[in-house]
Amino acid sequence: MSQSSLPRLGFIGAGRLARCLALSFSRAGYPVTAVASRSPASAARLASQIEHCAAFENPQQVVDAADIVFLAVPDDSIGTSAHTLRFRPHGQALVHCSGASPVELLAPARDQGASIGGFHPLYLFSGDLADIERIAGCSVTIEADGALKEQLMALAVALRCHPLSIPAGGRMLYHAAAHYAASFALCSLAECVALWRTLGLAEGDALRALLPMLSGTIETARDKGLPAALAGPVSRGDTGVVEKQLALLEGLGGDHAALYGLLSRRAVGLAERRATPPAAIDMISEAVEESLSRSLNQAAAGASVK
Ligand SMILES: NC(=O)c1ccc[n+]([C@@H]2O[C@H](COP(=O)([O-])OP(=O)(O)OC[C@H]3O[C@@H](n4cnc5c(N)ncnc54)[C@H](OP(=O)(O)O)[C@@H]3O)[C@@H](O)[C@H]2O)c1
Repeated sequence: MSQSSLPRLGFIGAGRLARCLALSFSRAGYPVTAVASRSPASAARLASQIEHCAAFENPQQVVDAADIVFLAVPDDSIGTSAHTLRFRPHGQALVHCSGASPVELLAPARDQGASIGGFHPLYLFSGDLADIERIAGCSVTIEADGALKEQLMALAVALRCHPLSIPAGGRMLYHAAAHYAASFALCSLAECVALWRTLGLAEGDALRALLPMLSGTIETARDKGLPAALAGPVSRGDTGVVEKQLALLEGLGGDHAALYGLLSRRAVGLAERRATPPAAIDMISEAVEESLSRSLNQAAAGASVK
């Protein structure tokens, strides 16, 4: 496709995400025509790295010089920024890059005739140039309709990413769930470290032992899928081990048994999708639910006393 048939891209915000996206789109042949930011210096720094790209002090000048405007500002500023921008009646789009904020925040642009959408790369941007290479192979979650959806899909491919599509309004659930593959995976490790500390193991030794096991689990999940990668007593139908571990953790107090029980519930769901004997799964499920009702009741009673 010739450059003239590609949409002109503009960026409001020149932070970690904008630096990677603007440079990558430009390298992929898209005309990145305009950048503005809170401080003129960061807009100028980014624009100076992109051919034929102007730095502006007023975000409205970006809207005037682009077909698709990426609002790459902190989430708390998306709504207020969207309110200040004026769009032509046809042919423009305003897009934000947040995973958690609703696309509906951009409604003021839609009310003027612009298309609106979400373009959320599932990647943690460092702000370094290395992001441009590292983002390849990641996914970008797109919430948009019609022609804008097609354009955003093509832009995801230009980043060498996989486009993922979610329905309108699905952003908050999508983002809440994604925590399980990032910060909540760290929280699971933190629970293990805390329990091992009672055995005298230091955090550094624990992580040295745990991280290779986690990497192996992720590799197996990538190659064979989640049910086949499940290991541990639930996967084998070892009811006795699960019962003893639940009892041990209940004895420690706090929410250790509740966390183990809730995650074991999910493990039972995976075991049901593999060759674990159904009778053993039923017994484990019963033990998990009984323990959960004790530990969750105990937690609720503790909360009402406070
Ligand atoms: N970082 C990530 O890993 C990541 C991943 C996926 C999605 N996102 C999303 O990408 C968006 C941007 O995040 P980020 O990490 O790139 O943030 P960031 O590094 O903090 O950069 C924010 C940029 O916005 C500018 N800015 C702040 N308030 C502004 C305003 N009112 N008007 C114009 N410009 C303003 C800042 O200006 P100055 O340069 O002058 O400070 C800065 O250039 C957010 O919606 C975030 O949720 C981020």
